[in-house]
Amino acid sequence: MVEAENILKLDSLVVDYIHRRRAPWWKRRTLVAVNGVSLSLAKGEALGIVGESGGGKSTLLKAICKFVPIRSGHIFIDGVDVTHFSQKEFSPFRKKIQMIPQDFCSTLDPRMSVEKILAEPLDIHFPHLTAREKFLRIGELLDSVEMDDSLLHRLPRELSGGQRQRLSIARGLAVNPELLMCDEIISACDLFSQKQILSLLTSLNRKKQIALLFVSHNIAAVSHICRDIIVMRDGKLLEWGTASEICTASKHPYTKLLVNAIPHICNGDGLAP
Ligand SMILES: Nc1ncnc2c1ncn2[C@@H]1O[C@H](COP(=O)(O)OP(=O)(O)O)[C@@H](O)[C@H]1O
Ligand SMILES: [Mg+2]
Repeated sequence: MVEAENILKLDSLVVDYIHRRRAPWWKRRTLVAVNGVSLSLAKGEALGIVGESGGGKSTLLKAICKFVPIRSGHIFIDGVDVTHFSQKEFSPFRKKIQMIPQDFCSTLDPRMSVEKILAEPLDIHFPHLTAREKFLRIGELLDSVEMDDSLLHRLPRELSGGQRQRLSIARGLAVNPELLMCDEIISACDLFSQKQILSLLTSLNRKKQIALLFVSHNIAAVSHICRDIIVMRDGKLLEWGTASEICTASKHPYTKLLVNAIPHICNGDGLAP
């Protein structure tokens, strides 16, 4: 057991992928996508993870959700070592942690209306709810992501990119998670929608005390909502500091490169105007 104040703790986590032989002369190759990552996230805190594409950020989140097997190390959720839990044993912990994946659009069933998409997790995790309670809860969820009731019967393709994003956040919130993990969810949208999503996540974090693990290659956006930032490269954790330390006084040359690569240079406490 570890201190229960941490919603998440990782201890020397290693995740690898085996690239199988597609032809007799190909060598079987193991790619270590996450290489000995240790971190902890206190309840209600927001932690950002930045790094270039292929650095292992998505794999790290998938491993935490048990979507990919881990090679070694330990994962603690709310103080419980869930590393070797079966999917059935892990099921109560799935409610505590929710992930909004990088390709969130492909996870929204194109044939289901907004109402059905939000009803699905409620039916699975809260089967005792009456039809009226479910309807009210769906209204609350739309409210919490600042979406209008008039969108209830729309299909995902009838929503804007920003609305689809908010819908996937609302679906994640349906199970009352203690930790929301967002994987590059703002990279595909315009600046206005980015700002809206960032302020929505900030308010979920500050008002509802939902812890955030926010992954992005955009340090300026991450520093907008997270107090602490981790820099990841080639599966390893390079540097960990407060947003202002990372943006203005980073120790590692790679972090300096990342900061300099952003046209909207951050000033340590948010997006530059
Ligand atoms: N399903 C997979 N099978 C094999 N290799 C993968 C798979 N997913 C990711 N990888 C490889 O793992 C490394 C880390 O990928 P990823 O976690 O997606 O990084 P990031 O999210 O930082 O861009 C990359 O080299 C990628 O090619
Ligand atoms: Mg990724």
